Amino acid sequence: MRKIRYNLLESGSSVRDVIDSVVARGPQDEPIHILDLDDVVVKHRNWCQQLSRVEPFYAVKCNDDSAILRTLVSLGAGFDCASKREIEKMLKLGANPAKIIFAHTAKSVDSLIYAKSCGINLMTFDGEIELDKIKQLHAEASLVLRIRYDSAKAQISLGKKFGCDPEHEAPQLLRYAKSLGLDVIGISFHIGSGSEDHSCFYGAIKCARSLFEFARTIGFDLRLLDIGGGFPGDHDKPIDSYAKTINSALQRFFPLKSNVRVIAEPGRYYVASAVTLIANVQSKRIVRDPQGDILDIMYYLNDGLFGSFDWLNPRHSPPLVIPGNRQLVRSQTERFPSTLWGPTCDSTDLICSGMMLEELQIGDFLVFDDMGAYGITLATNFNGFAKPKVLAYISRTTWEQIKLDKRGSSLKRSAPAVTGNNWICADLN
Ligand SMILES: Cc1ncc(COP(=O)(O)O)c(C=O)c1O
Repeated sequence: MRKIRYNLLESGSSVRDVIDSVVARGPQDEPIHILDLDDVVVKHRNWCQQLSRVEPFYAVKCNDDSAILRTLVSLGAGFDCASKREIEKMLKLGANPAKIIFAHTAKSVDSLIYAKSCGINLMTFDGEIELDKIKQLHAEASLVLRIRYDSAKAQISLGKKFGCDPEHEAPQLLRYAKSLGLDVIGISFHIGSGSEDHSCFYGAIKCARSLFEFARTIGFDLRLLDIGGGFPGDHDKPIDSYAKTINSALQRFFPLKSNVRVIAEPGRYYVASAVTLIANVQSKRIVRDPQGDILDIMYYLNDGLFGSFDWLNPRHSPPLVIPGNRQLVRSQTERFPSTLWGPTCDSTDLICSGMMLEELQIGDFLVFDDMGAYGITLATNFNGFAKPKVLAYISRTTWEQIKLDKRGSSLKRSAPAVTGNNWICADLN
């Protein structure tokens, strides 16, 4: 099994202490992600408490950092994998093939053959040709029909690309699967990523129920409902209202006595708030009007849209600013319209504009929270700029709890991860 390096956070220390220790080392070329694994564990516990009926299959695409994935394996979560690579990674990290759903409706031939070879049977589909392919390459698979049910308030709507029409196409596809002798076991949907509308889940679950009824009329006994992703994950966006809606829809349309297994594929929920980005100002340009008054101050950071910023989730809240030179006490309170650019030569690499900030200096640090979702997995090395370096932290208390898991992970001490404070390194075997 692969070893993963965790930095152990002793009691009394916080992520803020880590940020301070990173800043104390001075500006770096590469952006830094501080990954707080306690936050992932808290999210998992919160999920189990609020959505006790719904088994989470974490969407690996959202953030595939090995420390996150290994922690979730230890916690007994399942996984939504979309490719051969993601499946391979999860199996290497110790995931149980029975706890993986191959949740891509358009799978490559190679990935299907691979899935079959390692016992991954649960998978989604939304079209006839995919069914033909599955029949040929993995006929024993347990299939989940993905229907389209879109939230009107999603950051990323997925329905245009995936999911069949539930009224007209779904019954035909179920009939076709039956004619091929394939085993359809459930219905799935994804209301769209970053949905702000919890009530959408109610309609989607109700819609799935009617397909369960139809399926029975043609001889299928469906037993799985997959409610997809679409949950918020920022630290100030709880899932309480989502849980309330889902629980009441399940109670009404899939009561416990129906014996239907319910799973979900949350991505953003699990990881958004777990990552804090530390970037720094690498260059700066002041734009003035002909009278010399400042119109805009443009800052060029070492991270941007080709790194860990999300294209579809523009930043509105100002980051925390930490002066690079800690001796320098800034008394200024004046704020200026400011533009934050990423480092690349592309002018679309714009983090935000019109933000009112105090004047920053080269080497100052900007700390952005809620950076864990769809950042690191979408980051590129465009223009030769470095992707963020991830430093994973876990508290001793949480570590002690996790290492008691059935896989018997152990803790190893090695040289201090960050000199001058009380961090140590740990490997999870
Ligand atoms: C099939 C599937 N499942 C789950 C997810 C995760 O969604 P979210 O991050 O909104 O929870 C996605 C995201 O694109 C997806 O495509």
